[in-house]
Amino acid sequence: MEAQLSCYSSFLPSPRSIHVISSSSSSSSKRPMNKTSHNILINNSSSSKQLAHTNVSNKINHFSHLVDNILNTFEDLISTFLDLPLHSGNDPKQVLTDNFEPVDEYPPTPCPVVEGSLPSCLDGAYIRNGANPRFIPNGPYHFLDGDGMLHVVKISNGKATFCRRYVKTHKYQVENEIGYSVVPSFIACFNGPAASVARAFLLAVRILIARQFDPVRHGFGVANTAVALFAGRLFAMCESDLPYEIKVAEDGDVITLGRHGFESNEASFSRMTAHPKTDIETGDTFAYRYGPTRPFLTFHRIDNKGRKQKDVPIFSKKDCTAVHDFGITENYAVFPDLQLVINPTWVVSGRDSVVGVDSSKVPRVGIIPKYAVDDGEMRWIDTPGLNMLHLINAWEEDGGNTIVIVATNSWKVEHFMEKFECSDLTLVKVTIDVKTKSLKRRLLSVAGRFHEYVTMNPAYASKKNRH
Ligand SMILES: [Fe+2]
Repeated sequence: MEAQLSCYSSFLPSPRSIHVISSSSSSSSKRPMNKTSHNILINNSSSSKQLAHTNVSNKINHFSHLVDNILNTFEDLISTFLDLPLHSGNDPKQVLTDNFEPVDEYPPTPCPVVEGSLPSCLDGAYIRNGANPRFIPNGPYHFLDGDGMLHVVKISNGKATFCRRYVKTHKYQVENEIGYSVVPSFIACFNGPAASVARAFLLAVRILIARQFDPVRHGFGVANTAVALFAGRLFAMCESDLPYEIKVAEDGDVITLGRHGFESNEASFSRMTAHPKTDIETGDTFAYRYGPTRPFLTFHRIDNKGRKQKDVPIFSKKDCTAVHDFGITENYAVFPDLQLVINPTWVVSGRDSVVGVDSSKVPRVGIIPKYAVDDGEMRWIDTPGLNMLHLINAWEEDGGNTIVIVATNSWKVEHFMEKFECSDLTLVKVTIDVKTKSLKRRLLSVAGRFHEYVTMNPAYASKKNRH
């Protein structure tokens, strides 16, 4: 029997992989097996061959570490000499403090019950996902770009267990192997033309020559945005990658099972929203992805067996915007089209991010039948002043002639990237008359109070709700 022992062998075949050969592969050897300082088990029937193999492996390892160190030094040089001065929104030393200070993993640990008791009928887990970088970069960093860390409280048989684990994404595995922040913060890494070009070149070397990282085959997401349960599986999700399937073990530990593609072999299906919506009546899950090239938005469905269905490209969307969330109603999917635009050419003109605000653009809402086969029935309705980031829920009234959306809205979206806390996020209820394309909006939260990350029981998606 032969198996590969490597931190990321299941993701990326690498010359650093170490082979483990068990005694069962030998028909003659009855002698005890040796164990080297590298935890390599050697079949004694061919020990000289294996010793040579070990020596070669050691040389490859030493060479790989040398390459890692050289590339990491280049990364440091970019941060020291080419980066523009960091500000409070992209300086990791300022961003990763207080509530955002990274924490380590924490093994399953019983929680003492301080007061009262836990009902024995409670059986489940509360899971929180969030950005928590494994390695703090020297260069720019955005608070949304950290590795996904799952905080779990499992309650069962009147006892509670706490555990904290990283989602073991491809990015995490690569960086954990190298011991360094290798993948730049996507949102913040464009920090001046010289640093942007140098960082892009270095990343290309890491991917194409050093073969440290394979984003084409294995993605580059951080799985740090949300947790969702659909198609009978539990996922940690981020919109820059496919979902990672996770599970909560009996002892309360959290295990990453791997990147999940919903039985699709399409090369273009390399990412999807972190906020899919499941219709509880049918079990179908609706999702989408967006990107910097046409079609800028692509809608799709995952059936109740967990199989991805055919894409519906939305060609009527004329630019790439950060469509972070959407909603479903009984018959429709509802997409916000924000002023938060992604434009790679901005980096060339000296802006420090590919994500920014186009204040000349009028925000819109797009409405398309959930089971549309193309975007022929997509209707766009102008929604001036509405940059809806999270759609808490949506539903139909008047036989489908009215669409109601409850969402968080940023009245000062220009602050979203650098001073998120100043982006004036409130909760609004928007009522759209689909025939006349007119809309009414009502503030549901207290004016001036920050309201974000509102959520509700996902089983009520598409159903009219009061609270
Ligand atoms: Fe979100």
